[in-house]
Amino acid sequence: MSTDRKLLRLCSVSDVSANRPMRCEAEKSVYAVFRLGAEYFVISDACTHGPGSLSEGYVEGSEVECPFHSGRFDIRTGFATEPPCTEPVNTWKVHIVDEQIFIDPAETSAAGCAR
Ligand code: FES
Repeated sequence: MSTDRKLLRLCSVSDVSANRPMRCEAEKSVYAVFRLGAEYFVISDACTHGPGSLSEGYVEGSEVECPFHSGRFDIRTGFATEPPCTEPVNTWKVHIVDEQIFIDPAETSAAGCAR
């Protein structure tokens, strides 16, 4: 890993389980951390449709359902998969160092465009 990156610690891997996403606040942003199988994913906690917190959503397969109006997003890509959500949420590449989950805030997918 390059040492000139500024990684932001979000939580420990033990804080996140398959059915228990983790809400993490760091540097004035709020993230939702998910575990799918052996992989971890970070998306913006804020639903793009309204005030829903995606870390409080219902996880089914690789999707999270917003607790407000039941819109859905693909946790892996950030793409909206079920109305009323139409705009994707941002995603970040996950770095795991010593069992801790980090992101590089600059490594965003720009709202689901690429991972
Ligand atoms: S606020 Fe998330 S679906 Fe409406």
